[in-house]
Parts: sequence; C-alpha cells; structure tokens
Amino acid sequence: MNTSKSFYISTPLYYVNDKPHLGTAYTSLIADILNRYQKLFGRSSFFITGTDEHGQKCEQTALKRGLTPQEHCDQMSPQFERAWKSLNINYDLFFRTSFDYHCQAVQTALQSLYDKGDIYSSNYKGWYCVSEEIFYTKKDLVNGKSPTGKEVIPLEEKAWFFKMSKYQKALREHLESHPCFIKPKERQNEIKGFLKQPLQDLCVSRPKKRVSWGVELPFDKNCVAYVWVDALLNYVTGAGYLRNEETFKKYWLEGETAHLIGKDILMTHAVYWPCLLMALNLPLPHTIFAHGWLLNKKDEKMSKSQGDKLDPLELSNLLGLEELRWFLAKEIVLGKDSAISLDLMVQKINEDLADNLGNIFSRVSRLIERNFEGQIPLYKERQDSPLQKLTEDKKKLFKGQIDSFELSQALQSLSGLLVEVNKYLEQTAPWKLVKTDKQKAGLALYNCLEVLRICGILLSPVMPRKMERLLSALGETAVFKNAEWGRLPLGKKLKHPKALFPKILI
Ligand code: MSP
Repeated sequence: MNTSKSFYISTPLYYVNDKPHLGTAYTSLIADILNRYQKLFGRSSFFITGTDEHGQKCEQTALKRGLTPQEHCDQMSPQFERAWKSLNINYDLFFRTSFDYHCQAVQTALQSLYDKGDIYSSNYKGWYCVSEEIFYTKKDLVNGKSPTGKEVIPLEEKAWFFKMSKYQKALREHLESHPCFIKPKERQNEIKGFLKQPLQDLCVSRPKKRVSWGVELPFDKNCVAYVWVDALLNYVTGAGYLRNEETFKKYWLEGETAHLIGKDILMTHAVYWPCLLMALNLPLPHTIFAHGWLLNKKDEKMSKSQGDKLDPLELSNLLGLEELRWFLAKEIVLGKDSAISLDLMVQKINEDLADNLGNIFSRVSRLIERNFEGQIPLYKERQDSPLQKLTEDKKKLFKGQIDSFELSQALQSLSGLLVEVNKYLEQTAPWKLVKTDKQKAGLALYNCLEVLRICGILLSPVMPRKMERLLSALGETAVFKNAEWGRLPLGKKLKHPKALFPKILI
C-alpha cells in the first residue's frame, strides 16, 4: 500500500427492514478496526457506513407498520447509528440514501448514462426477489427460488436497461490486470468464472405504480431507480461526487478505496458497480473484500429469517465490548465463514485476554510495585533478548498483514507472542530471581513490559479503550512509530490500573 495516499473504507448500507444484529455489526466492526489501523499508520482515512432506505422491501415493511416509508426509515436508521456508536464504531459519515444530495446525484448520474446512450427502454420479463431486491432469469432459479432459497415473484413490465454488457470485456481485463481488485482469491475466481458467460444488461427502473419509494428517473417520471443502482452510488456520493470536488479528489480519485462487504452481495459489487463506474468514467475501487458469514449452530447464515440473530449490544454487555471486538477480529479469518457460539467466545476471550495479556500485565506490574518501588526497572539488556527478536520479527510483518486484510492472522501472531511472554515469565521466574539477582529480575520484567507496550500500540485499533489504559500506565501513547523496541522510559513510575481483563464467568 502507498501510505502517502489517503484511504477510504466503506461497509454496505444496511436495509432498514431489520434492527442491527451481530451479522451486520460484524462488517461495521471490522471496517472500524481497519480504518483505525490506517489512522494509526499515519494515513488520512475516511470511513463511511449507513442505511439503504429505498425499494420495495422497505416500502412493504413500512406499509405493514402503518407508516410512510420515510417515517419508517426515520425510526429505523437511527437504531443503526446508535448501535454503531455503542459499539465504538468511529465512522466519519453515517450515510442515508434518502439524503437529498444523494438523490440529486443519482438523478444526474442516470441522466448522463441516458444521454450517452447507455440506458434504453425495453420489456422486462423474469423473476424478482423482494427480500434481496434482485432480478433473476429462469436459469438462475434453484427449485423455483432464488439461489439462496428466497421467494421470487414473476414480473413482466416495460423497463429501462443499462448496457452492462458493453463493459464486460473491460471488466474482465481489469480483473486480470488488478489481482487485488476482488479479494479473497475464491471470490475473485467466482467473478472470473461468472464473466465467462455473456453478461445481461441490467434493469435499472421500477414502475411507480408498483414501487414508488425511490429516486425518480429524470427521463421518465413514471419510474424510480432500481434500489441497488441508487444504493451503490453511495460510495461516490458519500465521498463528495458532484458535491465536494476536494474530498472527492482526495478520497475517490486519488485515494486508496476499499469496500468491505459480505460474500452474499458480491455480484452487485463486483459486477454491477464497476460497470456503472466505467460508464460514468470514474475510477474503480482498489479492493472489494468479501468476508464470510457468521454461522449459527446449524451452520447456516445467522439472519432474521433464521430467527437466531445475536444482539451485539447484549453480547458486549455480557462479554465486554473490547473483548467482543477482539474475538470477532482475531477468531474469524476475514473471508471465511465461521460458526460462533457464546461458549466459544467466553473460552477464547478468557484464554487470550484474561489468562494471557491481562494476567501478564498484572503479574509484572505487581512484581514491579513490590520490588522496584513501582518504577520501571532501571535495567536494559545490552544484547538482544529473545523476546526482542521475536517482537521485532512479528512487528515487521504486522503492517503488511493489515494492509492486505489479513487481520486475523496479524492478531493471531501477536497473541502467539503473548503466549511466549508467559512462557518467558515462567522460565525466568523474576519473583524468585529478585532475591538472588535483582538486576536480572529487573531485566526480565523490563522485557515483558516492552512487549506489552508494543502490543498495546498494535492492538489499540481493536481495543482502543483498554489499550489506552495499558499504555497510559506505561507513559505511552498509541503512535505506530513508537512501536520500536527500547523506548520504555526507565525509572518512570508505573500507574497500576485495575485488572484490564477480568475473567468472564458465565
Ligand atoms: N442493502 C444491501 C447492501 C447495499 S450496499 C450498496 C444489503 N443490506 S443487508 O442489510 O442485507 O446486509 C448488509 C451486510 O450485512 C452484508 O454485507 C451482509 O453480508 C452482512 N451480513 C448480514 N448477515 C450476516 C451474517 N450472518 N454474517 C456476516 N455478515 C452478514 O445487503
């Protein structure tokens, strides 16, 4: 990654037919962590998330509740905003597709596609899945349902089409020349395979007599824009497209752009979206990273229809917010599906945070308090200690892992380092050594504190509040360039915070 460029990261916009749940919170939490990492690395970074408010699904849900779609959205969207705030998800923009400036930009963009002849009128005949807001042809259906098993309805109507097929060749070439465009590799192969078949043009309109809740087409007052076309454009309108040239240039035209999405919405992002961007003469995002699903006990996607959603706020009350963030970021390999359960969360959090990181910190600081008057021991090893070498090796890889979305691998590597610190403590036994060789005992404690300080910096995007407590006890702040061995202020009085990670007993 070129660190002089700014960074722009997005989540999908969430449908407002449901409250936030752990599956939707997962995408936002990971995007928050990746955004915080880029800020830690010293980059200017922008993080956008929000709600997808138009379309048939939203209109139907509002109707069932006896509300207008706008009233329904105005009630639901703040629930996401509040939930993300409670989860310490530090977005720069909470975007709503009902924003006026967005609707106007969608109209301008569609008008320009129409003017250049990329939109034409024809008849649509096929199937529509309201739950996914996706059009299907007969050959896409599996046992009369959508490929993911959702109900579809037959449709036949006059509609407007975007000449997506015109961009198929250019998209195929882009995929070949930009191996990081779609990640991980399995998803890239999926799209490459899909693009071997001729690409159909995309229906981009809905007649108002059936769906009126949407952005009116500027060239046909009887239709609204297809909700996915409207929603996908958020990534550029949020960055300032047709509104703020300066931010648009900084983040979209010249920055490094990344869309974090779930693998279920790969097709819309990796095919429709780049074709639309090419038609609008706009640069494509650098990376579209599709993560896997959080699975329930039956190995199915956790979802509203399965009725087994976990509430992220309840979980964060039960386990601790930063502990929950740690579990999701470390245990789930980004891109893979992962079965999760409360038992597994408690077990892993206790192992990593209570028994390891937290325990090392309280043991070491207690020993320093008792034997060194609470001051960081005035001994520093002249030669490299084994812990120094290990820490430096892991740190060298760390930034590259984060930059290439290997978040879980990077955190597992630091967790492994802390296991080594625990072993080192057992081997050197400073509580015994202090009676016979105070200098050596001091050295051992110094080495442990150095690893804790460096890990405190490197883990701050995942657990910002607890790592701030750890670092302030050591007189340090979370700045990436400080994560160098040997900066610990010798002789400084250690602040002894109360236990960082109490054991979870459920
Ligand atoms: N509104 C569209 C996205 C439009 S973006 C221009 C949408 N919304 S959604 O609310 O249904 O899903 C949003 C995201 O939540 C998707 O990335 C989806 O994969 C993710 N998740 C929902 N349930 C999930 C799990 N059980 N596990 C992991 N992520 C899941 O699609």
